[in-house]
Amino acid sequence: MNDNLPLVVANLKANFTWDQFYSWLEQTKEATNAFGGTVIVAPSMAFISEASQKLKEKKAKLKLASQDISQFEQGAFTGEVAASQIADQITYAIIGHSERRNYLNEEQMILEKKVANVKKAAVKTIFCVQDENTRIPYGVDIVAYEPTFAIGTGNADTPENAQAISKKLKTKGEYTVLYGGSVTEENVKSFLKKGVIDGVLVGSASLKSESFSNLLKAIQL
Ligand code: PGA
Repeated sequence: MNDNLPLVVANLKANFTWDQFYSWLEQTKEATNAFGGTVIVAPSMAFISEASQKLKEKKAKLKLASQDISQFEQGAFTGEVAASQIADQITYAIIGHSERRNYLNEEQMILEKKVANVKKAAVKTIFCVQDENTRIPYGVDIVAYEPTFAIGTGNADTPENAQAISKKLKTKGEYTVLYGGSVTEENVKSFLKKGVIDGVLVGSASLKSESFSNLLKAIQL
């Protein structure tokens, strides 16, 4: 099923304890339920299972993503989480975030295996690229253009450049394209452009429930 647009992803990275995350869910509930597009939260892997249960119980509109997935299927791979182990709890998986490429040396071959496992588990891949030249593996559904200079720096790309890159990405496949990198409640609207940039991936500005709710309200249709 196609996602309602715009699509907004809150990438919480390795922030929050369960209690803090639960408060975040409660505090953003009104804005996420009222939003006409699709809102996705990617919490720590530690909270996926419990979050999935809570969201089902509350019939929340908010969807869940993992921030990563193993390159391996189930087996003797200590510490790994295989796509098939959480496929019933998530709708999306973020693969290839630049923090993982940089801090964990995730290279193209590894990323291709991850995307293949995500696809096999019938979960949608949100694949992060640093520019229009990053290779996009087979099976990707959503591409997030995230220039490294803009991630966590407060120095977002210009909407014009982000839109130009998105147009190029759209010529490579039928992707939903997101922009990510210092998106805030103030600048979010400038990035979205129908048929060009379909949504945003938000890190820092998603951590405060009030900023995140305001961000959603700023682009409410
Ligand atoms: P940022 O992070 O919004 O803090 O720049 C974006 C991301 O890492 O996806």
